[in-house]
This record gives sequence, C-alpha cells and structure tokens, in this order.
Amino acid sequence: MTDAIQQLQLLHQTLSTSTDERLPLLAAQSPLPALTLRTADNCAYRFSYDGKQLAIASVAANDGILIDPEDWLGLTRDMEAVPPLVYGNRLQCAAGELNKLLAWEPALRAIYRGIPVYDPNAPDLTDDTGATLDPAATYTLNDSAEAMRRALNTLGYLVVHDVFSDDELHRFRDYAQQLKAGARENDKQSWWGKNSKGESVICRTLNGGEIDELAGLYDDPRIRQLAALMPAELKGANPREQDGVTVIFKNPDMSEGLSDLPWHRDCGMGGHAIMCPTVIISIYLYDATDEAGALRFLPASHKASFGFLDAGDSKAPRGVRADARAGSVTLHYGDVMHAAPEPTGVCEHYRQSILLTYQPDYQHHRGDRHYNDILFNEREDGQVPNMKSLVDGD
Ligand SMILES: [Fe+2]
Repeated sequence: MTDAIQQLQLLHQTLSTSTDERLPLLAAQSPLPALTLRTADNCAYRFSYDGKQLAIASVAANDGILIDPEDWLGLTRDMEAVPPLVYGNRLQCAAGELNKLLAWEPALRAIYRGIPVYDPNAPDLTDDTGATLDPAATYTLNDSAEAMRRALNTLGYLVVHDVFSDDELHRFRDYAQQLKAGARENDKQSWWGKNSKGESVICRTLNGGEIDELAGLYDDPRIRQLAALMPAELKGANPREQDGVTVIFKNPDMSEGLSDLPWHRDCGMGGHAIMCPTVIISIYLYDATDEAGALRFLPASHKASFGFLDAGDSKAPRGVRADARAGSVTLHYGDVMHAAPEPTGVCEHYRQSILLTYQPDYQHHRGDRHYNDILFNEREDGQVPNMKSLVDGD
C-alpha cells in the first residue's frame, strides 16, 4: 500500500466517525447526489449528504470517479481543486460524475478543511469592531486606512474612486490597445474566447509589464497606499514576469471561452493553501456598469466556500456590483467569490482593467509555473473552454 493511500485511509476513517462535527459547516448546503471517489488501488469512499446527515463510508466500488491518490490528498489539503483536475484530464469517470464532484467541492472543503459553505442569503458582514458593513460602500484615497482595511478584510473587496486622472487613463488605454494588437492566439500569454459570430476575441493579456509605465504601477504612491491595506506578508508580483501585470478586456456577445466568468475564486485552479491570501488590485480604464460587464462579488465569501455556478444561472446569487468608474481601483482577495457576467447592454467601451497581484512567496506544489497555466491546453487556437462545457461534455 502506498503512503498516499495509507494517509487517505487514516484521514477518512477519522472523518467518518466525526461527521456530526462537520454538519454546522454544511448548514447552507442543499442536498447532494452521492459521490464516490476511488483510486486504482481499491481505496474508495462514498460521500452522501441529504441536507440533514453527512456520511463518509469505505466502499468496494468500480464506479464513481477514479482519481490519483496524490491528487486526492491534494484536495484534502486545499492544494488541488476540482477545476484543474477536470482541465488537466486527471479524472476518469462515467458521464455526469464530474458535475457531481463539482457540486461537492464546497462540501469537501468543509469536510477536509473546516471551511463553512457560504450562505448567500446570510453573509456575515460584521467587522472586528462589531459594526455591520454596507457591502455596496465605496471609498476614496482620503478615507481612513482603518475603515478601508476593515471593509477589505470583512467583505473581501474594496472599491476606491478617483485614483487615476484622465491623462493617465488615456495613456493606459493606449497601452491596452498596444498589448491587444501584439497578442496572438496560442501565444501562451493571452486568453481568447469566441463571440457568437465565431470570431476569436482577446479576453486578457498576461504581459502588461512589458510596458514601462504599467510595470511601474507597483511603485505608484497611490497603489502603495492601497497595498498597505493588505496583510503585511503579501508582496507585489514581479511586473516584468508573465502575470505580473495583466490587462482584462471584457467583450459582448461571447459564446465560448473564459470571458463571461462564472462565480469563482482566483485560487480555483489550485494552490489555495499556499497562495492565499492573495489580493488583486484592478485599475479601471472605463466605467464598469452592468451594461459594460461589471465584476460582481459575494460579500464575505472569502471566509467560506461556494460552488461553481454560472453567473447567469437562475439559481445563482446576484452578489454586489463592484461600482467602479474610469479611474477607480478595486482590491479583492483572490478567494472571495466573484463573477464577470455578460454585459447587459451595448456600450462604446466594455470593462477594461489593469490587474496587479500581491501574494505570499510560494512554489507551485507540482512544480509548474502558475496554477492558471492548466488553462493553456493543446488547442491550436488558444481557446480556453469553460468549465461547464467540459463537465457537461464528459
Ligand atoms: Fe478572478
């Protein structure tokens, strides 16, 4: 028996006798279809939750989902996540099983990690002084650092208006166009999608740091002022490296690819245990109205788990719109749930923002460059399929 199998068996033996202790963490979880995970060495456990009772039982199974024991251990440690296992073709199962595993992900984090399932109807908006915060409040650089820090830590995000001037925005917009013009499908430093006419459109570039003024944003005094609100151990990325400065281009009428993003956390491709807390700073080049494809947040969801749901799904919560205008800056914890629904209107300019990343020092647990690189597949056209098409097409 391998070491990994032994560890999995010990862990699940312990968990199967303490399921009642986990129940409060599942209070917001609706019933789930039974799920079986198994390894090639006949280590198999069946998870069931009917809304009242949780059971974890050792079973002799040939069905369910076949998973590598190291990947399973990774899930128990919040180093792995379900989406990268799906994108990486690292699971074997019958049709429909992947959907089950995706639905189970928040409950598995509750079971393995003690992280509660998020309740969108009753988020905890109480800060450390006992005050209840307004999840739609916005700030300016003149507000007190303490008030902004409390909002960021309690809600998981912060919107700050009037940070950059019109002159700066004009230059930033030119840079964004320059990066867009230089990007090529499958260059491994840009993400692409397709619109309903079948045209390829760019969704983001990862090489914004090639432009000096954008690389210099990490040293901008206003950005430094905002970065000081983050936990002290976080460091700004190297702007000259890929992903150091990212530019997002929201597009209308998208039918394929990662443009209209479902509810997700930025550590959703793995590495939560080592990369979080991560904070992303977004600098808005245009007004981010709903018509222009605003970002939405689930307040205080960084202290909990929430399942994968398309933002347009009728069961999905609406969350709170990041009420950013041209020149605004938002900060968000990478693990606060956020979504980028499709634009609701026709605009001259859709949401465009420049992203800076602040993280602890960490190394990818499997030695890869970046957790999101799993999204660069072998497709010639550089298209990134969305999760739903993958789990539905299994
Ligand atoms: Fe994100």
